[in-house]
Amino acid sequence: MTRVVAVTGATGFIGRTICRVLHDDGWSVRALVRTPAKADSIADFISTHVTGSLEDVGALRRLVQNTDAVVHCAGAVRGATRKQFDLVNVDGVARIVRLASGEKSPPRFLMLSSLAAREPGLSAYAASKRAGEDVLAELGKGMNWIALRPPAVYGPGDTELLPLFRLMGKGVAPVPGSSDARFSMLYVDDLASAVLHWIDKGGCDQGAYELHDGRVGGYSWEDVIEITSGICGRKIHRISVPPYWLQVPATFNWLAGCLFRYYPMLTPGKLRELAHPDWVCSNDAFTGCAGWSPGVRLEEGLRNTPGWAGFGEYRRSR
Ligand SMILES: NC(=O)c1ccc[n+]([C@@H]2O[C@H](COP(=O)([O-])OP(=O)(O)OC[C@H]3O[C@@H](n4cnc5c(N)ncnc54)[C@H](OP(=O)(O)O)[C@@H]3O)[C@@H](O)[C@H]2O)c1
Repeated sequence: MTRVVAVTGATGFIGRTICRVLHDDGWSVRALVRTPAKADSIADFISTHVTGSLEDVGALRRLVQNTDAVVHCAGAVRGATRKQFDLVNVDGVARIVRLASGEKSPPRFLMLSSLAAREPGLSAYAASKRAGEDVLAELGKGMNWIALRPPAVYGPGDTELLPLFRLMGKGVAPVPGSSDARFSMLYVDDLASAVLHWIDKGGCDQGAYELHDGRVGGYSWEDVIEITSGICGRKIHRISVPPYWLQVPATFNWLAGCLFRYYPMLTPGKLRELAHPDWVCSNDAFTGCAGWSPGVRLEEGLRNTPGWAGFGEYRRSR
């Protein structure tokens, strides 16, 4: 019998890859879509969609009804105030978890949190992701649930890291934060395969699990520049950008976000996230309980990610 999975955030960078991987594995994917026109772009990977948002209880009820699993991937990743983030990352979680756990036979429930949730004091985004996990733990007691905490995710369709790799492809690497900083990364298809693994097999205690691309100890900016330089076949000049250089535009964005309906990416909170020296994580707990392991390291992942100058030059040079 076909298994049905409800997916929120299906029109986003990560959600669409999750839909594709679940669909390819034989799941019938029911997606929550805010803007009907966007459903066309994922039509190949979904069986049906429900029009609505996380604020629409009726739509959420239709979404989770009679499902075997729910992947809650929708999230606010831009914003200035705690309220802007909480409306989606906390209140939205509460609504969908209440409905899913109230089902006669509650579905297996996986939520995309973030490694940022490990440091809730850094930003409104990080605090909202941690609060979302807490809400899931409190309201989802009767369900089989986990939250995944990915680090920086990259791959086809990403718009946040792409500009940085584009610049690197042109020979310049603006590096924010400390030169000693280390961070983990994850290719988007590997994240989707982790979701599939747990949705298929379950097997972990309720809780939040970190995951990364298999590079123990993560990357330094020097590592990323070296790998990218190898792909592009050109020297990349590192330019250190002290966070205080960005403080003025970040503060301006934050003010505009507070005063108007504006959802900026660069804010003082985002700067504190960028300046944080340790975003390295471990696969041990998740691999131990779910049996998942990553397959794509940064070099291969970047080669699979079209749209940045280095990639184009690499392809042309072969
Ligand atoms: N990208 C990363 O590096 C990264 C790292 C760690 C964790 N995450 C988490 O992964 C999840 C997906 O991130 P992403 O990078 O794919 O972001 P994205 O491209 O901005 O996608 C966000 C998705 O959430 C949907 N959404 C936002 N607010 C909604 C609402 N109120 N009701 C219904 N849907 C709503 C969006 O719908 P529309 O298309 O209609 O806007 C979109 O489908 C987020 O929870 C994020 O916190 C991302």
